Amino acid sequence: MRSIAVANQKGGVGKTTTSVNLAVALARAGQDVCLVDLDPQAHATLHAGVQPGLHPLSAYDVLVGGATLAEARVTAAERIHVIPSHIDLSAVEMALANRPGREGILRQRIEADDACQGKGDGVRHDAMIIDCPPSLGLLSLNAMASVDEVLLPLQPHFLALHGLSKLLETMELVADRVNPRLRLLGVVLCMYESATRLANEVARDVEGFFESGRDRHPAWANARVFRTRIRRNIRLAEAPSFGQSIFDYAPDSHGAEDYAALAGEVIQAAVDRREVRRAA
Ligand SMILES: Nc1ncnc2c1ncn2[C@@H]1O[C@H](COP(=O)(O)OP(=O)(O)OP(=O)(O)O)[C@@H](O)[C@H]1O
Ligand SMILES: [Mg+2]
Repeated sequence: MRSIAVANQKGGVGKTTTSVNLAVALARAGQDVCLVDLDPQAHATLHAGVQPGLHPLSAYDVLVGGATLAEARVTAAERIHVIPSHIDLSAVEMALANRPGREGILRQRIEADDACQGKGDGVRHDAMIIDCPPSLGLLSLNAMASVDEVLLPLQPHFLALHGLSKLLETMELVADRVNPRLRLLGVVLCMYESATRLANEVARDVEGFFESGRDRHPAWANARVFRTRIRRNIRLAEAPSFGQSIFDYAPDSHGAEDYAALAGEVIQAAVDRREVRRAA
């Protein structure tokens, strides 16, 4: 199973919009997807059409209470399961303060679930997408310790690169200590306004930053900036309140076009990687 955490400690950059619409785009491409909402705000849960608190178990029970992923997951749509968030997640740091190995709890749950996928309830996922909260606390660490890939949404304004070094540093630490497979899959520019000079300048800066980082830590040395830029599109901002992805809410919008294109690149990245590995 492919696993991708959508992370950036900066708030409001498009993490949740990307998590949900990418998850649905992958499902539309025929993949069975599990969307994990690790943000106490529960925006991804709502956006995916699942009412937080309505289901007996949430990501909190998975992390703190010992619930399995199979017990906590809810069917949101065809090919899409959601592990819902709950406001209790905001207290997870305190609840786990004295738990040894607390960064690795989600990873253990995923491994246990992997071991029995296809048995039990018969669910086998092709991809897991984790929506992270806007911080580098225990929830984001659990996500990074669990996944193979991080997808980083950036909003192209003048502070876009600010804080990036902290995120990359955190990824390096996680890769060195607990999850050597961790890689930055790439950066996706969100809420992009192609008509503005600033957006174009920031896009060039971001590309330059990652080009010059090729000799850096292996966790992010090969990161790409995705060709697809998610344009600012009001339909993307409206869709969450209807509990619908952009593909259901406004299938002919720029938002749907852009997220379908991004999903294409994300799928292609896995194909390219397999080919590189085979050639090696
Ligand atoms: N491309 C876009 N065009 C227009 N609005 C967008 C776009 N992407 C996201 N938005 C809106 O911008 C706001 C922030 O987006 P989103 O919730 O995805 O960011 P986030 O990084 O998950 O935020 P947080 O850090 O609070 O979790 C939301 O209201 C969302 O609907
Ligand atoms: Mg969010």
